[in-house]
Amino acid sequence: MSAQPAGQKLYEGKAKILYTTDDPNILLTRFKDDATAFNAQKRGSIIGKGEMNCAISTHLFQMLEGQGVKTHFIDRPSANEMRVKSVQIVPLEVVVRNIAAGSLCQQTGIELGTVLPQPLVEFYYKNDALGDPLLTPDRLLLMALATPAQVSYLQTMALQINRILTDFFDHCGITLVDFKLEFGLMPDGTLLLADEISPDTCRLWNQAETDPDRRVMDKDRFRRDLGAVEDAYRQVLERVLAQSVQL
Ligand code: TMP
Repeated sequence: MSAQPAGQKLYEGKAKILYTTDDPNILLTRFKDDATAFNAQKRGSIIGKGEMNCAISTHLFQMLEGQGVKTHFIDRPSANEMRVKSVQIVPLEVVVRNIAAGSLCQQTGIELGTVLPQPLVEFYYKNDALGDPLLTPDRLLLMALATPAQVSYLQTMALQINRILTDFFDHCGITLVDFKLEFGLMPDGTLLLADEISPDTCRLWNQAETDPDRRVMDKDRFRRDLGAVEDAYRQVLERVLAQSVQL
């Protein structure tokens, strides 16, 4: 593969910017403080979010790698930057839910906080113009977004990652309510866990709080104007760091 100039902006998303490096197989992700919700209809900034999410994602990716989950993570050269393997992102948001919240409650009427009998894995089409719609398995295959074997692999990986993360967060005194994953394809066809795992992409409830608003430690504080967003992210980071040291 031919060399490419390093430091070229490849893509700017809502929460991260992707740059080339001098190695065509490696990209640099810069985590931003920018926050958006409801398909960017709501915009704001969470001070220190870039560094906190980069640190939290780093620890979670390292912990998952240690348990046999292949991820795109390489290292964290600075506080808000992560070097990752260059992958072709599969345009699916894989959501795992343990407890009913968010769009599951809105679309089904299931009461907030209902513990699901088993984890629910859902696939959403990663497409801002269409508003990231929920896909049926048949629609996913119809659109050729993944092969049947890949869908089955993604489902298995999502459940395995859920088991590891649920256990980890439990040791942090945090309940993992639900979360979103993205995966990327390597040139050899291997699927790697990609993107980030952070309070932007998970619902995390503080087990020390019972009040439905006070317990929220994730981006719902921003989405729902609950206040103290930075404090909540900082709490998650501190607990993840403390727990990572003990592993
Ligand atoms: P939902 O209940 O709004 O469908 O969200 C489910 C989970 O996915 C929740 O943990 C937040 C996360 N999520 C993202 O990471 N990005 C998104 O764009 C959306 C809508 C949800």
